[in-house]
Amino acid sequence: MNNFIYDIPTKVYFGEGQIAHLPELIRTCGKRVLLVYGGGSIKKSGLYDTIIGLLKENGIESQELSGVQSNPKIESVRQGIQIVREHQLDCVLAVGGGSTLDCSKAICAGVKYDGDPWELVLDRTKVKACLPLITILTMAATGSEMDNIAVISNPETQDKKGFSSYGMFPKFSILDPTYTYSVPALQTAAGTADIMSHIMESYFDQVRDASVQDGISEALLKTCIESAPVALKKPNDYQARANLMWAASLAINGLNSLGKNRAWTCHPLEHVLSAYYDITHGVGLAILTPRWMKHVLNEQTVDVFARFALHVWNVDPQLDCWAAAEEGIARLYEFFVSMGLPMTLREVGIDESRLEEMAEKAAESDFSRSFQPLTCEDILEIYRASL
Ligand code: NZQ
Ligand code: ZN
Repeated sequence: MNNFIYDIPTKVYFGEGQIAHLPELIRTCGKRVLLVYGGGSIKKSGLYDTIIGLLKENGIESQELSGVQSNPKIESVRQGIQIVREHQLDCVLAVGGGSTLDCSKAICAGVKYDGDPWELVLDRTKVKACLPLITILTMAATGSEMDNIAVISNPETQDKKGFSSYGMFPKFSILDPTYTYSVPALQTAAGTADIMSHIMESYFDQVRDASVQDGISEALLKTCIESAPVALKKPNDYQARANLMWAASLAINGLNSLGKNRAWTCHPLEHVLSAYYDITHGVGLAILTPRWMKHVLNEQTVDVFARFALHVWNVDPQLDCWAAAEEGIARLYEFFVSMGLPMTLREVGIDESRLEEMAEKAAESDFSRSFQPLTCEDILEIYRASL
């Protein structure tokens, strides 16, 4: 196992009604807040009114940045920074899914930086300080509520890049599973695929002796496999939504990955797809992951795939390791299909025309410490197999 420092500084308020703590949390950060949200789902659900009511009752001043898009754009970050500066706000309150949270993290970092915030995305070492961030999560997927990563898109350069800094961890996150009742079925399924991908990105890793982390990963994967179909059938099922929500946070906060290489593979491949075609992140991952697995199944990896099949999918223990490995990959694919996810690139509007260009872009990532290092040719084959 690799050395690591365990430090997850986000304080989580989990469960129905935890929003009652919001005023006291904001007060620890200041008096004036930037409320950031997306395309309006929080207005439909009534959460917006609840928040505004709490702010008013407690004399907390607020300004708003709305309309943050999925795959959040750098322009929204620039707008948020401007509002914070103009009104001298003390902290940011992000209400929504990963896109709103990521945009808010970039605003928190950008406010304290003199240059353009895209420079921070390109070089995280330039992040020196951050405004405090409070999040209220409305969708279980990215785990942004409990990590320090922000993924931002720049349509001008067709780049989508993640950057991170210690100061970008949310100070507080309110996780109320009832806020996720209204998440549409496709987003619930895509979010589940994203959670599972975050787990698998570190489960399939060159470091093989991290038993605690791998055991946690298996438990989290099984939770997704049990809970997502229930949430899809009964969107208001509290237990299913609660389990998905907590699985999402634990999938990426380091608990199951510290001590491993954490050199992800499917995410860099997907980020190029959503940079070029603005597709839903979790859908892209669901399409790519089983194809990536098939591509890297070989003598060096078969034992891990067989363990995945046995421990996560409970395949027949009598199967030899190759048959088990293949069965595990097939079961994952079928699970994504069963959730109603599109499983080919063509279904999400991607054809062969730009595959080579995208493979070259994806190959700029460093895969040397990944489960299986990938070349540009490998990536192109995975993209082609996903068509
Ligand atoms: O914008 P609104 O109106 O809120 O609607 C959103 C959006 O249309 C909707 N939604 C969210 N909560 C809802 C709801 N609709 C009804 N009821 C609710 N309670 O769902 C849609 C998708 O929202 P979005 O925030 O885009 O989804 P997600 O949470 O999947 O975030 C995706 C972004 O996060 C990045 C992805 O690349 C993508 O840009 N990631 C961030 C990571 C991180 N910070 O650690 C890691 C991930 O791997 C990922 O890359
Ligand atoms: Zn992801």
